[in-house]
Amino acid sequence: RKTGILISGRGSNMQALVKAARDPAYPAEIVVVVSNRPSAAGLAFAQAEGIATEVVDHKAHASREAFDDALDAALKRHGVELVACAGFMRIMTEGFVGRWRDRMINIHPSLLPAYKGLHTHERALADKITRHGCSVHFVRSDVDDGPLIAQASVPVLRADTPETLAARVLDAEHKIYPRALALVASGAIRVDGEKLTPAKSGL
Ligand code: GRF
Repeated sequence: RKTGILISGRGSNMQALVKAARDPAYPAEIVVVVSNRPSAAGLAFAQAEGIATEVVDHKAHASREAFDDALDAALKRHGVELVACAGFMRIMTEGFVGRWRDRMINIHPSLLPAYKGLHTHERALADKITRHGCSVHFVRSDVDDGPLIAQASVPVLRADTPETLAARVLDAEHKIYPRALALVASGAIRVDGEKLTPAKSGL
């Protein structure tokens, strides 16, 4: 399936997806990487890989609707069928989310439903929890909400700082995101309302 990746910055999750998709047997083909920030570091990596890139600058659009329409148009230009958000830091309109319902996924650095929103590692450390992690989910209009596709947990160590914990979680992100995208792109799982069901028997 033709997949577009949305980024805002570093793009290390995007890189993990692009690397997985180098395998011809991988069920998703990355056709475009779109950033809302012209300076996003990830754009250079995508270009070096020969992947089309687009910048849809939120600052150049008067409203969220106008921005989302431009984003949608950029994805359509490249024939995108599936969208993977990878560190994309814009809240989307209900209209956009609806147009890509069940065809758009996101990665979040916490074991959802815990720690939606920002600064997840700081909050996890403040709470002195012992397991933290990351989640891949279908996007719904509530931020960091939606049917879960994959999660990975990591230990929280006593000596952790937000940075060391973030690095451990990020490693796990790079492992589960390619697997989760493959599950969706291959049709191995599908969403039925808010529930996830294996589309094929034996899974
Ligand atoms: C990741 O931790 C992702 O889960 C979060 O923002 C970070 C983005 O990192 N939403 P990168 O741009 O993929 O390197």
